[in-house]
Amino acid sequence: MVTGGNSGVGKETAVGLASLGGNVVIVCRNKNKGEAAWAEVKAKSGNENIHLMLADLSSLKSVRDLADAFKSKYDKLNVLVNNAGEILSRRHVTVDGLERTFSSNHLGHFLLTNLLLDVIRDSAPARILNITSEAHRGAKIHFDDLQGEKNYSAFRAYGQAKLANVLFTYELAKKLEGTGVTANCLHPGVVRTGFGRDDSGLMSAVIWIASPFFKSAEKAARAVISLATSPELESTSGKYFSGMKEARSSEESYDRETARRLWEVSEELTLS
Ligand SMILES: NC(=O)c1ccc[n+]([C@@H]2O[C@H](COP(=O)([O-])OP(=O)(O)OC[C@H]3O[C@@H](n4cnc5c(N)ncnc54)[C@H](OP(=O)(O)O)[C@@H]3O)[C@@H](O)[C@H]2O)c1
Repeated sequence: MVTGGNSGVGKETAVGLASLGGNVVIVCRNKNKGEAAWAEVKAKSGNENIHLMLADLSSLKSVRDLADAFKSKYDKLNVLVNNAGEILSRRHVTVDGLERTFSSNHLGHFLLTNLLLDVIRDSAPARILNITSEAHRGAKIHFDDLQGEKNYSAFRAYGQAKLANVLFTYELAKKLEGTGVTANCLHPGVVRTGFGRDDSGLMSAVIWIASPFFKSAEKAARAVISLATSPELESTSGKYFSGMKEARSSEESYDRETARRLWEVSEELTLS
């Protein structure tokens, strides 16, 4: 399963996994974009076993419906790529009353992963990959203002959410020790995709101007596909990768107390 499978890194990851012969589920929030990507992934990979599921990661109900729909159709999940993500110039509030960057990038995937964990464990060996960003460096989890009500900027919210991806990965890897399920996270590089383009602010213009210098989504996806499938990485867990290379993430990301507290708060916000 690849979330955000209709565009950029997610779509190319779906093509790569499908080319290897897997059954691939792409999760998309927009029906038209999802159907177009579904046809493209099938055509490019030559694999007919591509399935589209619609869900908005920023809505807890939508994530619950997705997990239910998946479980009613399939009884195995070997690879979960939590890839969907967005950055927003202005603060948006979700249907659950939560800040949207945090929900789309972190809470939705936290909930989805936990809801699918029984199927994933039963499918071991299995792998969970969380797509994060170098933007997590220098970021903090603002437990006193998690929803950016007092102070919001796109980079503050995005950095916090991507740090949450890393902290979640490390805590999840600890909880999964001995189960045959691994959890790793990955910065895909600076990639030419749809990322930040929907935004009407200055950010979208800056991204557009700089984009010729970015790497292609196809190249970025190679690292995701390798982490998802390489036999030599079968027992690697709780690691941060920058492209194909294992790297150290920020000091903040290794703080066990922060990871534990984030898990607790994420549980309260999503599972209660
Ligand atoms: N591009 C970069 O330079 C870069 C660098 C570091 C990390 N990343 C990370 O890489 C991942 C993939 O991004 P990308 O560069 O491939 O950008 P992209 O082309 O914009 O793809 C992002 C995907 O996520 C989907 N998405 C966003 N919010 C969603 C939600 N609430 N529910 C469901 N789907 C949602 C988007 O759907 P729509 O098409 O409907 O918007 C799109 O399919 C993200 O996690 C991003 O943070 C990207």
